[in-house]
Amino acid sequence: MKPKVYIAKPVPEPVITYISEHCDVRLWNSTEPIPQDVLYEEIASVDGVLLSHIDINESFLSTASNLKIVCNASVGYDNFDIEAMKKYNVLGTHTPGVLDDTVADLVFGLILTSARRLAELDRLVKDGNWEKGSDTPLFGRDVHHQTLGIIGLGRIGEKLVKRAKCGFDMNVLYYNRSRKPVVEETYDAKYTALDELLSQSDFVVLMTPLNPETEKMIGKREFHLMKPTAFFINGSRGGTVDEQALIDALQDGEIAGAGLDVFQQEPVDSNNPLLRMPNVVTLPHIGSATAQTRLDMAMLAAQNLVKGVTGEIPPNVVPELKQQRN
Ligand code: DGY
Repeated sequence: MKPKVYIAKPVPEPVITYISEHCDVRLWNSTEPIPQDVLYEEIASVDGVLLSHIDINESFLSTASNLKIVCNASVGYDNFDIEAMKKYNVLGTHTPGVLDDTVADLVFGLILTSARRLAELDRLVKDGNWEKGSDTPLFGRDVHHQTLGIIGLGRIGEKLVKRAKCGFDMNVLYYNRSRKPVVEETYDAKYTALDELLSQSDFVVLMTPLNPETEKMIGKREFHLMKPTAFFINGSRGGTVDEQALIDALQDGEIAGAGLDVFQQEPVDSNNPLLRMPNVVTLPHIGSATAQTRLDMAMLAAQNLVKGVTGEIPPNVVPELKQQRN
């Protein structure tokens, strides 16, 4: 008998075909998020689940009594309650590597859009408010030869360093749990303390994963350290920032602007003041959202799933759960 799996999000056809060769598959095929009662009914007897951005907590795990593995189609896994997964002896995987260039492109897009006011000026032209020339009211800030500070230098951060150095001659600072000698040597990136990075950078880019240590790591004190001309870019998770402190910093002119792909609450509440600030660029969490990259992510998640339900060790178990089921 084939193992039973549930796919709780729409995935491309080749991914369904691949999983179906090895497993009995049921799936949620709507772009609407799956309602919790439907999800809980579907997972009651499955061996594995493929999903993203759904909380894997005590109530999920106690509902799915046969569950062996949960496969995120995302690199972030802040939806995993690691202690609960250990308790229920359930493996968790993610999709590192396949999205690095795509996310780095988007984050660089946020840097350029913020500095050169691309979204704001696009609206100005379309609203028929381009009255004359391109003088002072339309000026932005340079990106080239400025200082980029990256907080969290993982794989995506490294791709950003390459773009910043090779494409825009930027001076690159980084802050990370561990030093990256190869990146330092190859791109002349400088490791700094967090406070030094915040006070020296023209663009502060937050790329750290969300976990108990990084939750709200950027708040009032950190915004206060930034230059009033600096831009804050978040390509990680909304939870890494104290969003009210960000709103205050923008309203008080402590920083020049922000480029945000992520928010504390997603989808973002329509009353959020960030949506009404012309110097804030807002995107709907699309860092990895290209057709090719989402296919690659779903396929990698599928490979993890098939291995996990057929008794093999999947290649992308999250580090905190590597000891499970060995
Ligand atoms: C990720 O992979 O974590 C991206 O944020 C998309 O969810």
